[in-house]
Amino acid sequence: MELYIDDANVNEIRRLIDIYPIDGVTTNPSILAKTGSNPVEVLKEIRTILGPESRIFAQTIPMDADGMIRDAHALVTLLGKHTVVKIPSIPEGFKAIRELSQQGLTTCGTVVYTPMQAYLAAKAGAAYVAPYINRIDNMGFDGVETVKKIQMILNLHQFKTKILAASFKNSQQVLDLCAFGIKAATCAPSVIDGFVKNAAIDSAVQDFLKDFSKIAPNSASIADLIG
Ligand code: E4P
Repeated sequence: MELYIDDANVNEIRRLIDIYPIDGVTTNPSILAKTGSNPVEVLKEIRTILGPESRIFAQTIPMDADGMIRDAHALVTLLGKHTVVKIPSIPEGFKAIRELSQQGLTTCGTVVYTPMQAYLAAKAGAAYVAPYINRIDNMGFDGVETVKKIQMILNLHQFKTKILAASFKNSQQVLDLCAFGIKAATCAPSVIDGFVKNAAIDSAVQDFLKDFSKIAPNSASIADLIG
C-alpha cells in the first residue's frame, strides 16, 4: 500500500519522511491554507524536500472543466511529472479528468463520498479516487465499508484506478483497509504517529535495554562493547 502524508507542514513532512517509508505528500486547498503561506511556495518547498521522484498530490481550484485543466497543467509544470492532479468528483470534474487522462496527465478523483462518484471518476480515466472515510462516518454511513464497496466495483469493472483512502481519524481504519488490499492511503501526521503508539511495544523495548545494561553496564550498544 502506498502511504502518503496528508499535510503541508514542511517540518512535519521532513520529520516523517526521515522515519517512515513514505511515498509522497497529498494536499488540498484547506491543508495548504493551514500553513498560512503562499500555496505555490509551499508546494515548491514540499517538492524540494521530497525530491523529484516522489508523488505530490495537489488540487485544482476552479469549478469548471476548462479552469481545472488549466490548473492541472500549471501544477505539473510547477511540480514535475510525478504530480497527481486532484480534481473534485463533480460533473465538470469528470469532464476534466477524461480530457486530462487523454492528454497523459495523472489524476485523482477527489471529494469522494459515494461509490457512484468513484465509479464515474474511474471510468473517466482517473489513476486514483480518494474517498473520505471520516467525513463519510460523520454523515452517518460507514466509511471503511464504503471504501470496500468502491474497491469491489473497481475490481468488477477491471479498472486500473487505485483507491487513495483519505480522511482517516485513527490507525485502525488504515489497518482495516490495508488488510483489504487498498492500494494507497493518506494520513495526517497524528494518525501516522498513532500507527505504532502502544505501551506494550515501548515496554518491550525498554526491557531489552535494561537487560542489556545488566551484562554490559558501561556500553550503550554492541558497537561500543566491541570498541
Ligand atoms: C485527501 O485527499 C483529503 O483531501 C483529506 O484526507 C481530507 O481530510 P479531512 O477530512 O481530515 O479534511
